[in-house]
Amino acid sequence: MNQAAEFLNPYRPGAGHMPPHLAGREREFAEFDRLLDQDVILENMVLTGLRGVGKTVLLDMFRPRAVERGWRWVGTDLSESASVSESRLATRLLADLSLIAAGLEVPESKPGVGFSPPGAERRTPLTFDVLGGIFQSTPGLVADKIKAALEFVWESLGRQEHRRVIFAYDEAQNLSDYAGKEEYPLSLLLDVFQSIQKKGIPFMLILTGLPTLFPKLVDARTFAERMFRVVTVGKLTRHESEQAILRPIEDAQCPVRFSDESVGTICDESAGYPYFIQFICREVFDIFIQQAAGGGRSAVPVDPIQRKLDADFFAGRWARVTDRQRQLLWVIASLDHPGDEFTIQELVARAKELLDRPFSPSHANQMLAGLAQQGLIYKNRFGRYSFAVPLLGKFIRRTYDRASVLG
Ligand SMILES: Nc1ncnc2c1ncn2[C@@H]1O[C@H](COP(=O)(O)OP(=O)(O)OP(=O)(O)O)[C@@H](O)[C@H]1O
Ligand SMILES: [Mg+2]
Repeated sequence: MNQAAEFLNPYRPGAGHMPPHLAGREREFAEFDRLLDQDVILENMVLTGLRGVGKTVLLDMFRPRAVERGWRWVGTDLSESASVSESRLATRLLADLSLIAAGLEVPESKPGVGFSPPGAERRTPLTFDVLGGIFQSTPGLVADKIKAALEFVWESLGRQEHRRVIFAYDEAQNLSDYAGKEEYPLSLLLDVFQSIQKKGIPFMLILTGLPTLFPKLVDARTFAERMFRVVTVGKLTRHESEQAILRPIEDAQCPVRFSDESVGTICDESAGYPYFIQFICREVFDIFIQQAAGGGRSAVPVDPIQRKLDADFFAGRWARVTDRQRQLLWVIASLDHPGDEFTIQELVARAKELLDRPFSPSHANQMLAGLAQQGLIYKNRFGRYSFAVPLLGKFIRRTYDRASVLG
């Protein structure tokens, strides 16, 4: 049997899948460590970046680092359903709090817990239901109720050694306020943490999400600007990309070898975006292992891999947009530097050159808002736009010619 065939493919293209070698990110770890040193929480973290750049896996790496330094850690993905109303968000926070509270016991005589005569200090486990009781019995708004529950847990942690807690929420761009429905879950979260941190309670917030996240926070509460340290996760440098490509097979002492030329091709085609590196490497590995069995020389077959990437990653996103949206996206892809930020004026001017039926600034504005909602475009705080999906412009240009999009 061929020796190479015994090696399993180590690469991991997939949302939230830990890569075999996490390349780079020293700066992000240093930022995180700095925040971990806080006794009084003055700064929380927003971890942001384009689709597939490695936010979720970085958050997963932060966790053991925090625990090692004596922090507790709770949190999950903020799915849309958890973010739609204040009471849903409150339930989410209470569920997370109850994890911290697991193992703690409190006197039954505490307000909201139940009443027993003084002296008879019967104790009860601090469960989700007990926290719910505190929540319900606290007068005031949902924010007051949540604060009461958080403060209660904080007090109950008492003299315990590990009292600092991180609340980490991924996909936090799903959080929104809904003025029409009088639901303000996003503002609620910010108000609650700002308030308890002011009181010196060391509960820190880490929110992860697409680049729309931070502007959304600041729109909801201007103090969010001072409350968060924004860490933007970007593409890998050339050296880091090489590490991401090579280390997995070196570490496994795999007999498959990527030539310098192959590594260069993978770096170029992925443009340093981690998801694309994993995707391409996974394909290349499978092909090379078969070729190694036949003793052939291996080069990266760019076209078939790219077609597969288009089908697996981009086509679904493209299928969900309307014809008119496609025209707009095609115009963006046709800007001089489609990977960079652009303004509505630049877009409208380009559309005038390219389309029979161009876009007015207000129409373009409206459509961009729709595309932002779909996670394809994002608008930064200075009103400039860009693609929220890496290499989307290149995909559009290589897959669709002018006639097929513009009709
Ligand atoms: N530093 C890295 N080195 C090598 N591979 C990485 C690195 N970071 C992430 N990856 C790989 O990139 C892919 C995407 O990672 P991840 O799901 O964490 O991205 P994300 O930013 O959370 O994406 P999304 O915006 O879709 O949630 C995974 O296959 C992961 O293994
Ligand atoms: Mg993610």
